Amino acid sequence: TIPVIIDCDPGIDDAIALLSAFVAPQLTILGICTVCGNQPLANTTRNALQITELGYRLDIPVFAGCHQPMLRSPIHGQFHGENGLGNTAFPAPQKSAESLHAVNFLINSCERAIASQQPLTLCVLGPLTNLATALRMKPDIAAGIGRVVLMGGAYREAGNRTMTSEFNMLADPHAAHIVFSSGLNITALPLDATHQVILTPEHVAKFIKVSGRISAQLGELMAFWDRNDVRRYGSRGGPLHDPLVIAYVLAPELFGTEKARVFVEHDSELCMGQTVADWYGKSGLVPDVDIVTRVETNKVFALFYELLSRYAGK
Ligand code: BDR
Ligand code: CA
Repeated sequence: TIPVIIDCDPGIDDAIALLSAFVAPQLTILGICTVCGNQPLANTTRNALQITELGYRLDIPVFAGCHQPMLRSPIHGQFHGENGLGNTAFPAPQKSAESLHAVNFLINSCERAIASQQPLTLCVLGPLTNLATALRMKPDIAAGIGRVVLMGGAYREAGNRTMTSEFNMLADPHAAHIVFSSGLNITALPLDATHQVILTPEHVAKFIKVSGRISAQLGELMAFWDRNDVRRYGSRGGPLHDPLVIAYVLAPELFGTEKARVFVEHDSELCMGQTVADWYGKSGLVPDVDIVTRVETNKVFALFYELLSRYAGK
């Protein structure tokens, strides 16, 4: 199996990603880290705990991470409802987060991965604050990270939070800069990829049918995700941003990538958080990020149906 850590800010699409990962037999989820992003840290942590409970995975420890971005003041998501989970009511979590800070958990896990020669896959579904902080604290941990698969950025697509910028990059552009210039193996799923996977009301109806005991809550989360913006997305529905990270880890053959050096703007009011790819070698630096630009949309949906239908047997 693939040892992974999921760093996230649930978030409706983070929640769908977690629920998909929980039932994937190929993954060993060592822990879930939370960060300030779609909601303040206390809420993203509570939401992560509630989702582990909904998904019957109270065995996975949850570690609360950074309360604030590195330099800028926090911004939060706009499409996730008051509680960050589409206003779906969940019982108060039975379990609390671990006492260890998520950044220390990341560092410890990487050090263990180095010692056991089993590099980790880090799935990052929110702002990159925790990973950037870990890299600043202990740069040597890079040797324990096989690959970072992250959702964030926008290249030929326009931004979703500002004209130029995608939310996760804008929420902590300094952290994103640190990670993209770290030399780690990175696969990035930008809006260019995630806008190819629109969860339409028809898909939602199908997911509700197959997902057994979680179908009521999953249906509510998914229904809330409808942006109702046909001009931008080509149909009703919303992009399955974060779940694509999980799909990529499970089935990279369903995605096409292009390699480029990536720079993150962190010093401009107009373009703050913009991801800039050096497609044509202008920087003279080695291209080192795999940017997902093509997605086998139908096969990816088939993968999610297969995964989420496993809840029918629970
Ligand atoms: C990203 O921003 C957040 O609101 C989503 O959870 C996703 O990670 C998409 O831009
Ligand atoms: Ca997210």
